Amino acid sequence: MAVTIIVGSQWGDEGKGKIVDLLSENVDIVARYQGGPNAGHTVVFDGQEIVLHQIPSGILRPHTVCIIGNGVVVDPVALLEEIKFVTGKGIDITGRLFISERTHIITSYHRLLDKLQEAADGAQKIGTTGRGIGPAYVDKVDRCGIRFIDLLDFSVLKEKLTKNITEINTILDAVYKVDKFNIDQVVQELYDLGTYYKQFLAETSVYLYRAIKTGKEIVFEGAQGTLLDVDFGTYPYVTSSSPIAGGACCGLGVGPKSIDKVIGIVKAYSTRVGMGPFPTEFDEDFSTRVRSLGKEFGATTGRPRRCGWFDAVVVNHSVRVNGLTHFAVTKLDVLDTLDELKICTAYKKGDQVIDYFPADLKTLGAIEPVYETLPGWKTATSSIKNYRDLPENAIRYLNRISELTDVGIEIVSVGQDRKQTIILS
Ligand code: GDP
Ligand code: IMO
Ligand code: MG
Repeated sequence: MAVTIIVGSQWGDEGKGKIVDLLSENVDIVARYQGGPNAGHTVVFDGQEIVLHQIPSGILRPHTVCIIGNGVVVDPVALLEEIKFVTGKGIDITGRLFISERTHIITSYHRLLDKLQEAADGAQKIGTTGRGIGPAYVDKVDRCGIRFIDLLDFSVLKEKLTKNITEINTILDAVYKVDKFNIDQVVQELYDLGTYYKQFLAETSVYLYRAIKTGKEIVFEGAQGTLLDVDFGTYPYVTSSSPIAGGACCGLGVGPKSIDKVIGIVKAYSTRVGMGPFPTEFDEDFSTRVRSLGKEFGATTGRPRRCGWFDAVVVNHSVRVNGLTHFAVTKLDVLDTLDELKICTAYKKGDQVIDYFPADLKTLGAIEPVYETLPGWKTATSSIKNYRDLPENAIRYLNRISELTDVGIEIVSVGQDRKQTIILS
């Protein structure tokens, strides 16, 4: 029995949802530890494609309990829609979904502020998902956030919201010149939502502690990816939480010694949505080709994803800051038709070779990737079930990834469907 963290090793959208769903077949609990409705985790099975944003990807397996941890920021209005969507698919969530009482909520003013700040930043914008993530985490750290537990007490809720909204209304009026919020209306809306959500609230850290003690099989599901981490990503072009493995301990209230395995989900190439540095990015024509092969459009916003070569510097950064013990390599099939493939092994700045991921944007803007080229395999891989049946050049490509990072590959994904997966022993 084990506790496994699933973490995005690049800029998100590596296929975490697919792998969490796959593992959930033999798992008792899946718990999300950070992020919020900015995430879009896609699961494909029996001909249907389901995109989850806030509900953990274990929900599609009837026996799995799903937890939304204290480190997540939840939009209760959007979650209500997602619960309706999931139950509309015939999935029974009764007694299977728990939300930490400590989880902070995203309100209408967070969503509005996210959009207004991005619009005001013009060319310097982050390119956020516009879901209110940044402003909600700002309030959490500023100690004025609203937690689920607050939604159950009308007077506490009113007091907190009155203070927050009075301040925000001043900014909306003076800086952005837009309509102000009606405090009583927001209080009533959130209190009503609290009445509904009461059934899901739990002391989830205690629940997990007991589950770990009794040897349950547990997956901690990360959202976003290491290069979007607020500390270790391409700051400031990052999200506002800690998607890295360490974030699971803070975001769920579990100790680091409980973790047995950290699987890094690694796309066989690279993508990113939004603005910010991307050293191995393709030129526009090639990006368009790979985007179409890999259907690289955001699962949350529908935005086209920027595409690039596999970057071993990025993934090694991820191996280190997450303590990755295994890889799940996804979307290998997307590369099936390419004549040759490049892997970035280091960066060069003038004569200087850089083999770690630089912290500052100026250096990132000045570096050139150092590539090695491998032959393509020009064979369809999406029906292959055994590792040994993969084309020789595909195995060579995977071996090189493993060699450059010193991490073994446990899973290779060759298509969207649950079944299009190769598990290595
Ligand atoms: P997540 O955010 O990490 O869960 O990833 P997303 O769901 O946002 O994006 C991954 C996309 O790739 C989804 O459309 C998946 O269905 C798809 N996908 C996952 N694994 C594979 C694979 O091995 N091959 C192909 N072709 N698509 C995949
Ligand atoms: P999953 O879990 C890819 C990106 C946004 C933007 C930056 C900040 O599906 O992998 P935010 O709305 O979080 O303030 O936006 O982070 N971003 C993601 N990119 N996958 C995600 O999640 C993302 N969540 C946020 O595009 O660049
Ligand atoms: Mg996604």
